[in-house]
Amino acid sequence: MSALFIGVGVGPGDPELITLKAARLIGEADVISYICNEAGQSQAKNIASAVLGNPQRLQDEIPIFMPMSEDRSIANGIYDQSAVKIQAALDRNRKVVFLCEGDPLFFGSFGYLLERLKAANACLVVPGISSVQAASSALQLPLTVLTESFAVVSGRHSETEIVRTLQQHDSVVIMKAGRARQKILQALARADRTADARYLEYIGRPEQVIREDIEQLRQEPGPYFSLFVVTRSERGHR
Ligand SMILES: C[S@@+](CC[C@H](N)C(=O)[O-])C[C@H]1O[C@@H](n2cnc3c(N)ncnc32)[C@H](O)[C@@H]1O
Repeated sequence: MSALFIGVGVGPGDPELITLKAARLIGEADVISYICNEAGQSQAKNIASAVLGNPQRLQDEIPIFMPMSEDRSIANGIYDQSAVKIQAALDRNRKVVFLCEGDPLFFGSFGYLLERLKAANACLVVPGISSVQAASSALQLPLTVLTESFAVVSGRHSETEIVRTLQQHDSVVIMKAGRARQKILQALARADRTADARYLEYIGRPEQVIREDIEQLRQEPGPYFSLFVVTRSERGHR
């Protein structure tokens, strides 16, 4: 057995959206690593629970507790310490699978570990279905057609940057909408795109919410797992 560090996308929430390759590699892993909250809860691990190693094949775990903070020095310190732990497992010739919600390299923590570990180790990345693809499927709405442009922006951008993106692009997905909901609603109104926007939370999970009419949304923070999809409403007439 040879050491391998594998970032595996487990999709946005519905376990049936885990790819065959991801399921096999998760089941075969010696060590499972994932980001979790203070209580040890991990969305990625919950999604993957059905494909984790069977009871005959105990898997070690490297949980990585990541506090909700925008202070990058805290996060970077945690990635440094976690990379040391993962490196120790790789030095013992273990296959380490890092579980990633959605796709590993789309707004994911995996990229920070990969940059610390890839020079010295064999690595593999298995793509996953991201929340963006899951959102357009849940809405049954094409993200882009013909010559439309498409941009992704984060709720952590300023209101001015979000307005500019909404004005410059036909289709826009606004990620990390939870705490930024009020700012995003204001940006949509300023860019005159309120009627073009839809809101989704917990896509692919039993608690999924879809709001086609965002005028109904309260100007208050929502859950972390939420986003807006903005498309041209008049595209059917082109
Ligand atoms: C750190 S990013 C991770 C993105 C993930 N790697 C992906 O491929 O979708 C977290 C953000 O993704 C979005 N997100 C991820 N999963 C979601 C879901 N199931 N429902 C709604 N939004 C989701 C939310 O905007 C959330 O704040």
